[in-house]
Amino acid sequence: MKTQREGAKRKPDRPCGAERVKNSLILPAKAAKQLGMSISPRFLDALRDRLTLSDIIGQRVRLSRAGREFKGCCPFHKEKTPSFYVNDEKQFYHCFGCGAHGDAVGFVMQHDNLSFPDAVEILAAKAGMEMPKQTPQDIRKAKKQQSLHALIEETTRFFEASLQDPANREALGYLQDRGIAQDTIARFRLGFAPADGRALYACLKAAGFDDKDMIEAGVCARSKRDGSPYAFFRDRIIFPVTDRRGRVVAFGGRILPDHLRPPDRGDYKPPKYINSSDTPLFHKGRMLYGDSHARQAAGEGQAVIVVEGYLDVISCFSAGYRGAVAPLGTALTEEQIQHLWKMIPENRKIPIMCFDGDDAGRRAAARACERLLPLLQPDHSALFAFLPEGQDPDSLIRAQGKKAFDKIIADALPLSEFLWMHHTAGRSFTTPESKAGLAKTLEQEADKIADRAVQQYYRQAFRERLYQSFRPARPARGKSGSVKSLPTGIQALRRPVSDPRSRAEQILMAAFINHPDVISAFDEQIGLLRVTHQRLDLLRQAVLNIHEGEEGLDAKTLQNHLSNRGFDSELRGILSESVYVHAGFVRPETAPDLVVAGVRETMDALDRTAFVQELKEAGQALSEDFSAEKEERIMALRNVHKAQE
Ligand code: UTP
Ligand code: MN
Repeated sequence: MKTQREGAKRKPDRPCGAERVKNSLILPAKAAKQLGMSISPRFLDALRDRLTLSDIIGQRVRLSRAGREFKGCCPFHKEKTPSFYVNDEKQFYHCFGCGAHGDAVGFVMQHDNLSFPDAVEILAAKAGMEMPKQTPQDIRKAKKQQSLHALIEETTRFFEASLQDPANREALGYLQDRGIAQDTIARFRLGFAPADGRALYACLKAAGFDDKDMIEAGVCARSKRDGSPYAFFRDRIIFPVTDRRGRVVAFGGRILPDHLRPPDRGDYKPPKYINSSDTPLFHKGRMLYGDSHARQAAGEGQAVIVVEGYLDVISCFSAGYRGAVAPLGTALTEEQIQHLWKMIPENRKIPIMCFDGDDAGRRAAARACERLLPLLQPDHSALFAFLPEGQDPDSLIRAQGKKAFDKIIADALPLSEFLWMHHTAGRSFTTPESKAGLAKTLEQEADKIADRAVQQYYRQAFRERLYQSFRPARPARGKSGSVKSLPTGIQALRRPVSDPRSRAEQILMAAFINHPDVISAFDEQIGLLRVTHQRLDLLRQAVLNIHEGEEGLDAKTLQNHLSNRGFDSELRGILSESVYVHAGFVRPETAPDLVVAGVRETMDALDRTAFVQELKEAGQALSEDFSAEKEERIMALRNVHKAQE
């Protein structure tokens, strides 16, 4: 691991944008040498000779003949009239608009956003040329890989065909019901693994593949009974996982929904997803689902978005977010993070991590943060986006459309902001000790950053933030001296009044006043509740107070007490149809267990709006006071914007 990273450091940054294109004619030989590869200039010449440049480019750009050349609209800058020329004889392309210029290798590198060796390999395969091999060991390894690739390809076709087989129309119907279009199925090569464990084996055997390779490629396992191979994936929807060049190397398999599969036997409940285990072609922790599409999208300036699941990647893609990828059933690894950064050709490498709106998603965010901190580098970071409670990108896009997801992405928080939120949300810091505690925690987070410069700026940002949050409130307009006496402390952490929030507060108070018998179940929560309206907050305190002083308090008595304390108008406002229509459970006649359930739900919702609100405020505050990150954000937003075009 260490040597690998040092190696990566020694490599100079790949030139990017127009510069990379301009240099592409001379880059290959130089790059080949730096990569220690034996790709000789002679090999590259032969490669260029075998290929027709306009074929290669014509597969990616619409070209028309112009005399001895071809012309088209340049893929590297926006234009409406063609100024991009391809000359097969001279084996180069040139854009008179932006100056992009290069050969076949340079074009594929730039257009498909691939590294030099990957581009050469793709073109060599196209030209039917063997890549130069170094040692006999390399040759053996390549042979092995070739046969595994062929086997996996055959398997993929088998799964694809099974999905279209009328015998499995329920599986196809399930995908269609989930809104997955036929062209998406084809593009992602979705398939179905039939329940019969011998069918795939028979197919591969007939195609001449070895039992041993079937096991090694992870598509078959050996039966415990007689050692014969049987299919690893059975009765599951298949998601082929490709390497960055788009070759399938592994599979994920999703169980069919309950109504489409036989009942579980005994207590055993099969996992929703199973994934290929690691093989010579597949390393879970190094790959990302959707990589080959996302890499290309990133090359075109689209945002790179990390989501949690296979179906999220597919939904994002269909909605136009082609830069979506997902880890393969594990938490994001260091290698995946490095890889995300590499696939973004721009100077600022800021993928957007998108987390599901559930506890698992929030835990995943904290974990991703933990992984990222030590790796941060100047201009290498991530944004954190959060889905609404209970949603993932797929369900949100399907239920509320792309616009709703646009908003989630646009609201993504910079990492530093997420950290601040993570340690402050829902807490108050009123004592010197608690403030010092927060300061210490943030220092410890900054300590985890290995890069000295980034670490410095994090410390600075946190200190400024602490200072802003805990200093006395600012006087109305910048004049010194007249410091307002009003509360200081946690201005920045306090939420403004928002309608749904005060509605929820009214609902809760109505529930307690109509049903004093459920108060004891929520004693503590009511005590901690931060009610935004002052009168309502006084009412809350009064309710607690009266409840504490009187055993077996009933609704009538409580309301009398409150009335005596001058809360008549509040009672009238709260114990009314205008509140009841929003929450029937608070009505006087509701059974206590339903009231308890309703209160619980309302409190959860309140927590969530608070969380989302704080995330938003944090985002705003940031764009007001921390310009380095503001830029980062604008960059990301710009990427998102591009993604929508
Ligand atoms: P989810 O449970 O969120 O599934 O798992 P999903 O992708 O939203 O699928 P649908 O919408 O319910 O059909 C997210 C990802 O976690 C991995 C898979 O990669 C999945 O896509 N996972 C999940 C597993 O590896 N194993 C499991 O049992 C469950
Ligand atoms: Mn889902």
